[in-house]
Amino acid sequence: MKAIQNWQPMLKVRNARKTFNPHTPNEVRALQGVNLELGPGKFLIVLGGNGSGKSTTLNAVAGSFFVDDGSIHIDGKDVTRWREDQRASLIGRVFQNPFSGTAPNMSIAENVALAALRGQPRGFGFALNRTMREEIRARVRGLNMGLEDRLDNMIGSLSGGQRQALTLLMATWVKPKLLLLDEHTAALDPKTADKVIHLTEQVISQGKLTALMVTHSMQQAVNLGDRIIMMHKGNIVRDFQGAEKRRLRVEDLLDQFEDIRRMEQLDESASEMLQETYI
Ligand SMILES: Nc1ncnc2c1ncn2[C@@H]1O[C@H](COP(=O)(O)OP(=O)(O)OP(=O)(O)O)[C@@H](O)[C@H]1O
Ligand SMILES: [Mg+2]
Repeated sequence: MKAIQNWQPMLKVRNARKTFNPHTPNEVRALQGVNLELGPGKFLIVLGGNGSGKSTTLNAVAGSFFVDDGSIHIDGKDVTRWREDQRASLIGRVFQNPFSGTAPNMSIAENVALAALRGQPRGFGFALNRTMREEIRARVRGLNMGLEDRLDNMIGSLSGGQRQALTLLMATWVKPKLLLLDEHTAALDPKTADKVIHLTEQVISQGKLTALMVTHSMQQAVNLGDRIIMMHKGNIVRDFQGAEKRRLRVEDLLDQFEDIRRMEQLDESASEMLQETYI
C-alpha cells in the first residue's frame, strides 16, 4: 500500500529550468530540471561549488525571474507566474550583503516597524506608537547585539553583523511561509558569523519556520538543519535527510564533493574520447 503523505509540502519545485542569455555566447544553463519538496518546519541546507545554481534556485523561488520551464508552489499556491513583490508576502529573505534588505537612511525602529507592517493593508499607516516601540525594543534586545538603546540610530551606522541580525529579525517578524538565507554570514568575521548563525538557529526553531540556507561552510552544514542538498551544474546531485543527515560529518561532505568532482572528470574524459573516436 502506498504510504499516505499527511502533510502538504511548504515548497514544491517541479522540473525548474532556467537558462540565462539563451542563444548567445554567454548562455548559462543555471537550472537544469530542479525538483525539490520541502515539508513544513524543515530546515534545508544548500551546498555546492561556485556557479552550481544555489542562488539561482533561491531566486527562482523568490520570483527574481520566471523559470523557463517547470513550476513552483509555496504552501499549496501555484506561484510560478507571481511577480517577486507578490511572493514577498510569503517569503522572508536575508542576503550575503549586509547592505541589502534594510533602508540605510531610516532608523532601526523605522526599519523594523516597516517589516512588522508587512502584509497589512495599504494605508494602515505608519503606526510607530509606544506599544510597537516597546515590542521592537524587546525583540531587538533579544538579538543580544546591544542595539536596544540605539533604536533611533540610522541603520547605515551599524556593523555588518548588527545589520544581518536586524535583517533576520525583520525577515521573520511576520512569520514567513519560507525563509531564504543566501550565505548570510559569508561577509562577517568568524565570531560575528557564529553569533548570527546562533540567532538563525534560534529564530528558525522557535518560529518552526521552513527555511533554505545556502552556505559554503561544511561545519554549518553538519551542525544545522535537518536536510542537506548538494548542487552541481544546475542539478541537485545529493540529498541527505533524517538519520543519514544527522550522521554526516565534515569529512563525509568533503568526500561527497570529491566524488562529484571525480565523476565530472570521468564524464569529461569520456566525452573527449567519444569526440576523438567520432570526429
Ligand atoms: N542574472 C544572471 N545573468 C546571467 N547569468 C547568471 C545570472 N545569475 C546567475 N547566473 C549564472 O548562473 C550560474 C549559477 O549561478 P548561481 O548564482 O546560482 O551560483 P551559486 O551556486 O549561487 O554560486 P556561488 O557559490 O558563487 O554563489 C552561474 O554560471 C552564474 O554566472
Ligand atoms: Mg550564490
